[in-house]
Amino acid sequence: MTRRVAIFLSGGGSNMRALVEDMADDHPARPALVLSNNADAGGIAWARARGIATEVVDHRPHGADRAGFEAEIAARIATYGIDIICLAGFMRVLTAGFVTPWQGRMINIHPSLLPKYRGLNTHARAIAAGEREAGCTVHEVTPALDDGPILGQARVVVRPDDTPERLAARVLEQEHILYPMALRRFAAGETAPLYLP
Ligand code: GRF
Repeated sequence: MTRRVAIFLSGGGSNMRALVEDMADDHPARPALVLSNNADAGGIAWARARGIATEVVDHRPHGADRAGFEAEIAARIATYGIDIICLAGFMRVLTAGFVTPWQGRMINIHPSLLPKYRGLNTHARAIAAGEREAGCTVHEVTPALDDGPILGQARVVVRPDDTPERLAARVLEQEHILYPMALRRFAAGETAPLYLP
């Protein structure tokens, strides 16, 4: 049975695009919803233009009430029959209240070789630490931030003259390869990690 995927994003959504384009081929899943906390996210306009259902849940009216924000997301997605949530540059931390019911059915892409560099500014931190390699990780989402079983990683060499922006651009190219591969496998029930060179 084809799995119905919701993709959550906050910005341009280049990873979402890579996922959607991959699902256009023979695939165990299909895009059923793109959701953003930001009405102006480029990814929302892109999805809408392709006839994919979209939802916007603005976090700002909820202030510090994360549970209220998450309850609204849960209510909005409830009618779409979602099987899998893919976080793709969704810049809001989700608490255990939302994550726990979705555990085992929600995945994320993070721009570092986890468990190194959880959180933000991963590329600047990797360069400052003198890392020789960086990369990205697709993992199952658990209540702990950027934790959870690893589904795949792709590696990138850090160059001596790298800036965070240049490194981010090369890692993003790998994200667009890794995330579709990882979702294909995950949607088919495969959870053994995939390591790209
Ligand atoms: C990516 O680097 C992703 O790893 C991180 O946020 C960025 C989103 O980029 N979580 P995009 O919106 O998919 O282009």
